[in-house]
Amino acid sequence: MTQSPATEAVVGKVSPRHIAIIMDGNGRWAQSRGKARIMGHKQGVEAVRETVRCATRLGVESLTLFAFSSENWRRPEEEVNFLMELFLLVLGREVKKLHKNNIKLNIIGDCSAFSERLKKKIGEAQALTAGNTGLVLNVAANYGGCWDITHAAQQLAEQVARGELQSSDITESLFAQQLSLSEQPPVDLMIRTGGDHRISNFLLWQLAYAELYFTDTLWPDFGEQAFSEAVAVFLSRERRFGYTGAQVRAWMNDSK
Ligand code: FPP
Repeated sequence: MTQSPATEAVVGKVSPRHIAIIMDGNGRWAQSRGKARIMGHKQGVEAVRETVRCATRLGVESLTLFAFSSENWRRPEEEVNFLMELFLLVLGREVKKLHKNNIKLNIIGDCSAFSERLKKKIGEAQALTAGNTGLVLNVAANYGGCWDITHAAQQLAEQVARGELQSSDITESLFAQQLSLSEQPPVDLMIRTGGDHRISNFLLWQLAYAELYFTDTLWPDFGEQAFSEAVAVFLSRERRFGYTGAQVRAWMNDSK
């Protein structure tokens, strides 16, 4: 795949292996154009496509998109219904393209609340792309960070109750293994579009050491330029993971 100058500008440095995105601002994008909010979600699918392309070009290993939170059920019924139909449509229409591009689709969240039709489509899409070795595209649907942590705790509690595990065996690493995305690289960069500066119950544990990047750009306007800007800001940050800046800079110099 050929790289545009914007992508070339960031390749070659230590690129993020895992990017997670809160795609916010669809409703406002539509309303500012005198359209119904749902039109913003429809346009948002274009931005998803473009972002998947950018992530693939950059060699990102995992891309995690927050498509529907466990709190989004509180929205007007017609908007929730539209989003469910949109997921069905997108899954049906895009999965072959994902497969052709060696992309593995992985849905995270509590899928039990979805219709049988949607559950079936999700199962088929995951099965078709399961063997792919390129970008892992995680779509968070009916997902909440609190749900993820609670679910992990339940799994471990059940193992303790069955006598398969002692509570004293529970370490951070064992706990993390029960969470969504446990087999993927840690999230390096979390992007939120739409101007708000909060995590909104997205990945909580998994963002422990992620760089956070907030932009006023509304999700349907997010494209290659905005993606490259976010990655460029990420590359300009010094990540210390608890070490001192002097230690980190010494290692960077040694590895040159
Ligand atoms: C937030 O904008 C967006 C959503 C809740 C839905 C996101 C869904 C898509 C982009 C389409 C489908 C995606 C996939 C991966 C299948 P908002 O409605 O909260 O915007 P607002 O803050 O302006 O109201």
